[in-house]
Amino acid sequence: MKTWELGDQKGIASLRMAERAEPKPGPGQAVIAVKACSLNRRDIGIAGGTYGAAKPATRIPLSDGAGDVVAIGPDVTGVKVGDRVTASHYTTWLDGTFDPSVRNADLGVSIDGWLTERAVIPAAALVPIPDKMSYAEAAALPVAAVTAWSVIEGLGRIKSGDIVLTLGTGGVSIFALQIAKMNGARAAITSSSDEKLARCKDLGADIVVNYKTRPDWDKAIRDQTGGRGVDIVVETGGFATLSQSLAACAPNARVGMIGALAGRPEAPPALFPMVGNNITLKGITSGTRRMFVELLKAMDATDMKPVIDKTFAFDDAVNAYQYMVDSDFIGKIVVSVG
Ligand SMILES: NC(=O)c1ccc[n+]([C@@H]2O[C@H](COP(=O)([O-])OP(=O)(O)OC[C@H]3O[C@@H](n4cnc5c(N)ncnc54)[C@H](OP(=O)(O)O)[C@@H]3O)[C@@H](O)[C@H]2O)c1
Repeated sequence: MKTWELGDQKGIASLRMAERAEPKPGPGQAVIAVKACSLNRRDIGIAGGTYGAAKPATRIPLSDGAGDVVAIGPDVTGVKVGDRVTASHYTTWLDGTFDPSVRNADLGVSIDGWLTERAVIPAAALVPIPDKMSYAEAAALPVAAVTAWSVIEGLGRIKSGDIVLTLGTGGVSIFALQIAKMNGARAAITSSSDEKLARCKDLGADIVVNYKTRPDWDKAIRDQTGGRGVDIVVETGGFATLSQSLAACAPNARVGMIGALAGRPEAPPALFPMVGNNITLKGITSGTRRMFVELLKAMDATDMKPVIDKTFAFDDAVNAYQYMVDSDFIGKIVVSVG
């Protein structure tokens, strides 16, 4: 079978194609005939050697994928050959509170991932795909959608009528917009592109602000909420945008700090509104398999479809990475396999 490997992690050009024997499942494992996988921002850092310690050159990249179970090893229960599946990328975080040990079995990072024709996945992490969902749609979800769900549902305890703010139009943010609307909330979103903001309006965004032409975007958001501010923030920008996100918050808001898209802050974030407005700020690292199952149930019930910007062929996976670097997309970038 054909597989991609990280290689020496000096950048996207280090990714390399290899030929391997067909994998056999060990105890507790399933072999999946992969149909689709998707990229996340961290995959750029992993390919460039800037996401934690160096990985083995033979590591198979990508945390997100979907396909058919073609073999199961001893002691596997709950899935069978022929099932359509995706998987929770933290393969041992099935439920309950976070423990750092989940990083020891993270698909595409500490264990082999999905950018391969046949993937070996811990069977306990597998999640069945709803009948009306395609492989590409399912492959778009594990990291980005589950993280957005974890902030909005887990931390945010969203209620109808809440206002959810998210920054930029990448994978996590577009899912945040859609999950907000699914819950009868209002969605606010920022972008550097008016064209992308127009797409967000089509997806149901209620408040859109261009953060390039409105560097005071927090004021623009506050103005458009009649001065009230937002109730939940999916903070993809990181510490460089946190001061403005907090300034855009309503009393008792919940802010999930998940990303670092805006780079290093020039000054420490201004945290004063946290006390004055009784705001909860929490770091969120992805979510559990249980959250993933809940997300799929909600998507199935509401017919919510992931926004897939572009699909690349398996042999062309390097160009999928380059497309992410160029940031010309909205939502998710998918690689079709097999
Ligand atoms: N904690 C976790 O478990 C977790 C999980 C997933 C992702 N993350 C992190 O969350 C962030 C988002 O991930 P992603 O996969 O959604 O990324 P992504 O798809 O690569 O997002 C790219 C988009 O981010 C936007 N952006 C860039 N700089 C920005 C800025 N200064 N302010 C606002 N938006 C900006 C741009 O949107 P426009 O083109 O519209 O301007 C760009 O197109 C990343 O830092 C990622 O590493 C964390």
